Amino acid sequence: ARPDALPRSMEGVRVVISAGGTREPLDPVRFIGNRSSGKQGYALARVAAQRGATVTLVAAHVADLANPAGVNVQRVGSALELRDAMHAAAAEADVIVMAAAVADFRPVSLVTHKIKKSDADPEPVALTKNPDVLAELVAARREGQFIVGFAAETGDAENDVLSYGRAKLKRKGCDLLVVNAVGDGKAFEVEDNAGWLLTADGHETPIPHGSKAQLAAAVWDAVTLK
Ligand code: CTP
Ligand code: CA
Repeated sequence: ARPDALPRSMEGVRVVISAGGTREPLDPVRFIGNRSSGKQGYALARVAAQRGATVTLVAAHVADLANPAGVNVQRVGSALELRDAMHAAAAEADVIVMAAAVADFRPVSLVTHKIKKSDADPEPVALTKNPDVLAELVAARREGQFIVGFAAETGDAENDVLSYGRAKLKRKGCDLLVVNAVGDGKAFEVEDNAGWLLTADGHETPIPHGSKAQLAAAVWDAVTLK
């Protein structure tokens, strides 16, 4: 642990965590979604609560997960709902963690009735960009608030996972970025570890292979408060 890391106890620390995958509605019965299970966000909430923090968990769609003991769980659907819930909760937070898989795009229009098929081919679904919630929370950051982002990267022919992570940390302006190497990356992409913790002040710590609870503990160990 770094010398200025939080003590094991998080008594009196108010944290807000987003988890799961947003669902972007097309009509009353259909949506565009993603495969996020929410398990990492729930593990972060559980470990923080175990360490004594006051925890709010803003949960989009998740696998069949039990609410972590002692955690205030707020359910949301779309990215816009998640954004509203995060801004409201962030006003009272010392630490904010964006572990949710927020859809980058949503359908331009929400059709109020169930879309019917006909003999003709369907129109393409027009999409528009969702707001970048993490960037907004950073822009609205209160003095002393600590903000954590997540990034899942595969690397590609131009850049490896770590350089994409460094660029994302800069672009987002958060204090800590958890970078997960995903996909069947080649050795030069992932090196020996499945990820890194990158801090705004330039610390780069490899994340040892382990459970989501162990990763959660490593994240909380890396969070610092003024
Ligand atoms: N995020 C967010 N709002 C969005 C998209 C992402 O708050 N509309 C947050 C995620 O919760 C995560 C971080 O931003 O903490 C990085 O998400 P990621 O999808 O890796 O980054 P993007 O900026 O969307 O870039 P890209 O998907 O193109 O890699
Ligand atoms: Ca994205």
